Amino acid sequence: YKEIISLADIPQFQTRAEEFFPLEWYRKMLNESPVYYHEGTNTWNVFKYDDVNEVISNYEIFSSEGSRTAIDVGTSTQEGAPPDKIAIALIDPPRHRKYRALLSTAFTPRSLKSWEPKIEQIVNRLVDEMEPGEVDIVNALAGPLPTIVMADLFGVPSQDHHLFKEWVDVLFQPNNGGDRQALEQKKLAAAQAYYQHIYPIVLEKRSNPTDDIMSDLLKAEVDGEAFTDDEVVRTTMLFLGAGIETTSHMLSSIFYSFLYDDPALYQQLQNQPAWIPNTVEEMLRYRFHISKRERTVKQDNNILGVNLKKGDVVVAWMSAANMDDSVFEDPFTLNIHRENSKKHLTFGKGPHFCLGAPLARLELNIALNTFTQKVSRIEPIPFNLESSLAQSAAGQSLVQLPMKIYK
Ligand code: HEM
Repeated sequence: YKEIISLADIPQFQTRAEEFFPLEWYRKMLNESPVYYHEGTNTWNVFKYDDVNEVISNYEIFSSEGSRTAIDVGTSTQEGAPPDKIAIALIDPPRHRKYRALLSTAFTPRSLKSWEPKIEQIVNRLVDEMEPGEVDIVNALAGPLPTIVMADLFGVPSQDHHLFKEWVDVLFQPNNGGDRQALEQKKLAAAQAYYQHIYPIVLEKRSNPTDDIMSDLLKAEVDGEAFTDDEVVRTTMLFLGAGIETTSHMLSSIFYSFLYDDPALYQQLQNQPAWIPNTVEEMLRYRFHISKRERTVKQDNNILGVNLKKGDVVVAWMSAANMDDSVFEDPFTLNIHRENSKKHLTFGKGPHFCLGAPLARLELNIALNTFTQKVSRIEPIPFNLESSLAQSAAGQSLVQLPMKIYK
């Protein structure tokens, strides 16, 4: 029996819009309660940069095992829970090291280099398909891009991409208070359809490897350990769970920021695309909410200045740490010229640092580069923010964002 903690009980946001951009809450917690015990959930919560850094990276004291928040990465099927070899986010070093090394074979600098033209091609196609005039950028770019990129990089044949996208859309469909059982049935069916479709592709790649992630995973070997065919299919599901909504969320939030935080920024990047990489980092710092992770205390300690007991749960609020003025000057301001934007903790820190960060960065950079070159101007179209947000794994994500584009 494991008690499930709902982290949403801690900030108790009154509206979706507040959770989408919770700067006031961060300010309050950083100033008034940087190490905060929340009774309702029986959790300790940290907000300051150094504390968050310590909690997410010091695995000797703060364990990733035995998570008590509900995490649904879509790697389990009716056949059982995902094996440790794949669920690397939930095990500590030293075991973590070997399994992470196995998964890392899919993310080498060489593969990254070869992904660039593929991602460019996908972004080009999506942007070319947009007609000048009114565009919903979530539906036209931010939503589909990460899924199509993954399908392509995994090695799913392009004629199957639309099927792949349909399953993924169902698998990560948020539960918005509708018929929960019906949704679960639908998700189970999608997971089965996904599995049945991908498994034969993996078998085929076992005998005829090609240049893609599935083939790399099949070849991977660390200390005599390797993946079975079944594990490769589940690994692709883990990557989908970890990498789709997060990247979509960031991309749609960046466009929201262009339209509503600083309307001069778009033109500025068009004229000086060399600032795009740092803009991506600053957006990860300033516009990604809410990145947070939970750890369990392994041994009694006083590291955070309070008495923590073995078994206590500590929640590290990374997006709040990104607003800590002891690290970021004038943190509540978006500044694409900031020198240390890249110090943000949105991808975590330490042994569990996001394995997909290089891919997410590549996608976001290519998306902004291509879009700013092909679209001469963007303008906001009035819309209702509150009703355009929905719960996702990443936080409150835009489900639509209408804007006007000029080519
Ligand atoms: C881990 C965030 C995109 C795969 C993490 C962690 C964070 C994170 C905070 C650390 C978890 C912890 O310390 O417990 C993000 C954000 C993304 C993103 C903000 C996009 C903007 C991706 C992509 C992929 C991916 C595209 C894969 C294709 C993973 C995996 C882990 C991970 C496998 C587990 C690593 C480990 O435990 O060693 N991510 N992620 N992520 N991420 Fe990402």
